[in-house]
Amino acid sequence: MIDQPQIGQPISRLEGRAKVTGTAKYAGEYNVDGLLYGYVVNSTITKGKITQIDTSAAKEIEGVIEVFTHENRPSLAWFDMQYSDMDAPPGSPFRPLQNAEIKYNGQPIALVVAETFELARYAASILKVSYEEESFATDLYQNQDKGRDPKVGMATFLKPLPPKPKGDFEKEYAASVAQVSAEYVHGTEHHNPMELFATTTIYEGDGKVTIYDKTQGTVNCQLYVGNIFGLHFKNVRVISPYVGGAFGSGLRPQYQLFMSVMAALELKRAVRVTLDRHQMYTFGHRPPTVQQLNFGADENGVVNAIKHTAIAETSQHEDYTEVVVNWSNILYPAKNTKLEYQLVPLDVYSPLDMRAPGGSTASHAIESTMDALAFKLSIDPVQFRLINYADMDVAENRPFSSKELKQCYIQGAERFGWSKRNPELRSMRRGNKLIGYGMATGFWESMTIPARAEAVLTKEGKLRVSSAVTDIGTGTLTVMTQIAADELGLPLEDVQFNYGDSKMPFAPIQGGSFTVSTVGSAIKSAGKALRKKILKKAREMDNSPFKNADDNDISFERGGISLNSNPAVMVFFKEIIAASGNKEIKTTNMSVPNVFKLKKYTRAAHSAAFVEVEIDEELGTIQVTRAVTAVAAGNIINPKTARSQILGGMVWGISKALYEETISDHRFGKYMNQNLAEYHIPVHADIHELDVIFVEEKDEIVNELGSKGVGEIGLVAMAPAIANAIFHATGKRINHLPIHFDELI
Ligand code: MOS
Repeated sequence: MIDQPQIGQPISRLEGRAKVTGTAKYAGEYNVDGLLYGYVVNSTITKGKITQIDTSAAKEIEGVIEVFTHENRPSLAWFDMQYSDMDAPPGSPFRPLQNAEIKYNGQPIALVVAETFELARYAASILKVSYEEESFATDLYQNQDKGRDPKVGMATFLKPLPPKPKGDFEKEYAASVAQVSAEYVHGTEHHNPMELFATTTIYEGDGKVTIYDKTQGTVNCQLYVGNIFGLHFKNVRVISPYVGGAFGSGLRPQYQLFMSVMAALELKRAVRVTLDRHQMYTFGHRPPTVQQLNFGADENGVVNAIKHTAIAETSQHEDYTEVVVNWSNILYPAKNTKLEYQLVPLDVYSPLDMRAPGGSTASHAIESTMDALAFKLSIDPVQFRLINYADMDVAENRPFSSKELKQCYIQGAERFGWSKRNPELRSMRRGNKLIGYGMATGFWESMTIPARAEAVLTKEGKLRVSSAVTDIGTGTLTVMTQIAADELGLPLEDVQFNYGDSKMPFAPIQGGSFTVSTVGSAIKSAGKALRKKILKKAREMDNSPFKNADDNDISFERGGISLNSNPAVMVFFKEIIAASGNKEIKTTNMSVPNVFKLKKYTRAAHSAAFVEVEIDEELGTIQVTRAVTAVAAGNIINPKTARSQILGGMVWGISKALYEETISDHRFGKYMNQNLAEYHIPVHADIHELDVIFVEEKDEIVNELGSKGVGEIGLVAMAPAIANAIFHATGKRINHLPIHFDELI
């Protein structure tokens, strides 16, 4: 008898109780005696120089310990080191307090350290800063002519630049029976995870620090701190206990980490720096983009000509890139293509990955264009996707490792009731409300990267697995415990997964939807190695029943090893441990994906979103009343936590389509709505029926688990599906996001 595998079970998150009862401690909640509090001061100008910072009044206040500025900061080991973190784009990274130069509005320019947070914040408010201002540019739309090709960087293999043009786009487009030419404009979006960025640095003496940080990568922050402050890596321990949402904002070390460590090392005391909500708008964002698409199709609805141009914002100091235009031709197999991606450096902070970076930007443009083309040709939007279905990735000329997108269309349409859609615009109503049905396709690359894991069979015969990986709220702890449990056939309660500590075996940053595949694969290889060791020990036991047993006849189950051919033959792990000197059995293994095999395939998760909107005909108010997302993401390790990921993505999609935007005043180069009152996001009353389907998808290529990751895919198709539904309901096609009710009146 084999225990039911844990993989595939809808297990509730193991840390759920700790989180809802408030016993889960976050980075800004670690208290030690003598803890000091830092408060950051941010620049109020956009570009220029600090001519003077008068800190004297602040320093006179009792309880204020120090004010750090560019004038008295310690000289640091590697102020200009380029790749000091794993997610750094090419360029020259920004370091707080480096010099008097101001590169963007909100730039951290000082840190006030005091005995209480309130005191630090008050003292920060009375610093007198004088500036010499220079002219600047922050408006992407007005500066599109300054677009240029991006620099190629370390991560270009993960974020490839567009492929070369193919065929003859101009000729084919001109000859098309139906053409759509449209511009899509996206504004800036800022990260607003519930938990604010916080770091508590404990000074341990002798240049040694223990750091509690809100991050998506403990090892990444360890490398960063070691590099920047010139510390031995072994003297830097980064612990990321619980993370209250991150979504990409914690892929790069944020500046509160720098500030907290700097102050702790200088003052030789424990220092906590927590950013406030306003300051969450000062360290990176989803970049604004302008996209121009020209798609042409023949009389049968076959898309033959695709042109997709994207112009995106970056900072003056780094070239942040996303994969935007490449998706057009991966999704739709046209032979004549022209794909271009350019950057405009502006006087802003470097953009930062935000859930489905590039993919959610691309999908809105591609899937709105496809919807417009289907309408022109009087073909049903789902049918139109099926006519143009890519069985192979013609852009890279290789097959997909698996692709059940067709099933997403079919099952999603069925569940939603797509067949009830009247194709005519403004034809469906409910009272004084116009009803619209819209759909769109989603896609996200499925990556697996190297990682390590340790697996230990404890003296009690239980399994302990560890990895430095974080759990940013996605369910990593639960899912990794499930994967580990199956390796030894143990129930969940006999498995402990330790994580979130740079001291543990290496894990890369948690993001890109690659954590389950990456760390899960590492756990699988550690598990395999551990089984081998356990079996070896079992065979060495006196009168071992396994001495001559074939490997295939062995099962790991019920807390021990048994023979398939005779299940009555059973030795418990505890007995094996006792027989081998009562010592733990331990292994640490690295998993490295087979890139030579993998690069023969395009590996991606797919989705189809179906959305119903209800629009008040007089007021223009928009409600997403129903949505179904069908997802093909390979093997789903935990359908419950995976579903939550998709639901979260769908809510974000509604937010992206209808609410979210950071408003800039380009006269001042400044974001104007740096708070949750004016930065709109949906609330409970805005979210109605959401439904998720995971379609069956077997993938033996992508990784050993056959799992593609679900972190981003839930978001990708939602915004275009909503925009398309609004078109169906009203006959108005609004191609910039977010779409507001006043545009529909
Ligand atoms: Mo995600 S943008 O990789 O956290």
